[in-house]
Amino acid sequence: MNRSDLLSVADLGREGIVEVLRLADSFAEVSERPVPKVPALRGRTVATVFFESSTRTRLSFEAAAKRLSADTMTFTAASSSVAKGESVRDTVETLDAMGVDAMVVRHSSAGTPAQVARWVRASVVNAGDGQHEHPTQALLDCFTLREALARRDGRPPGDDLAGVRIAIVGDVRHSRVARSGVLAYRALGATVVLVAPPTLLPPDTSSWGVTTSGDLDEVLPGVDVVYLLRLQAERIRECLLPSLHEYSARYALTAERERRLAPEVLVMHPGPMVRGVEIDSAVASSARSLVTRQVRNGVAVRMAVLFRLLAGAAADPVLVPSGRAGGEP
Ligand code: NCD
Repeated sequence: MNRSDLLSVADLGREGIVEVLRLADSFAEVSERPVPKVPALRGRTVATVFFESSTRTRLSFEAAAKRLSADTMTFTAASSSVAKGESVRDTVETLDAMGVDAMVVRHSSAGTPAQVARWVRASVVNAGDGQHEHPTQALLDCFTLREALARRDGRPPGDDLAGVRIAIVGDVRHSRVARSGVLAYRALGATVVLVAPPTLLPPDTSSWGVTTSGDLDEVLPGVDVVYLLRLQAERIRECLLPSLHEYSARYALTAERERRLAPEVLVMHPGPMVRGVEIDSAVASSARSLVTRQVRNGVAVRMAVLFRLLAGAAADPVLVPSGRAGGEP
């Protein structure tokens, strides 16, 4: 089997994204079953290798691997020999030597998963590298949006997001979610406006294919989706904001701003949310918020990603869920 990795949304292109979304439709159906499990990756081992903290991404990948019947291994830097000074290279080579088929890697430095991919035999999935990329977040966001738009319009989910206008609001500069999101949304035909104070926009967005704005109130009437980002305090080293209060006053989705949105406008956030800073607590829990769907769909989308990377030519088609069959494998 040829080894493949998922390091960037750009690795997939439009075709690859659509393939993952369609596969995830089948796995979402599996997740609804009383026993939400298929034997598709029986005998394979998936390791989550997290050098940076995480709640939902690590647990979501582990749930995805388990629902595919893969064995799982969990590595977290804080409780490992990294605390004794072991290098990233020695750590991943150690795991590789144990016979791991896929490593799901998160690190605070951009490019680490790509570097790991050069060192190990296992397939590597980027689960977030510094402020560079977080491809599975972008894929689960596309899946969630496509599902919500289909429900809104009373039709089956389509393959693209043509004509959908998405505002990504907040700390875009330090956000890997925004970088992967822009690549994926644009590949599917959506238009994106980045909304942030100038200090929290990337220095040069000319190659991103997006527009930018410093005025949330001006942007809100013209969008279908408001995608909020957390201030990445762990990556903000300079004084980029006058105060949190001032930031919230201009860029938070407050209850007052939410009341001005058309009823069909959708709200998204990758989590973890800091309620009261970038999003009002009631807005986060409102009917237009897709936050819980995003988390739920994350498992099906990561099943699709792991399946696509690991099942390869060896996949037995009878083990692939049909999306229609209701029976247990
Ligand atoms: C994001 C991340 O870690 O990049 N969270 C996530 O994976 N859902 C966003 C964030 O930390 O704000």
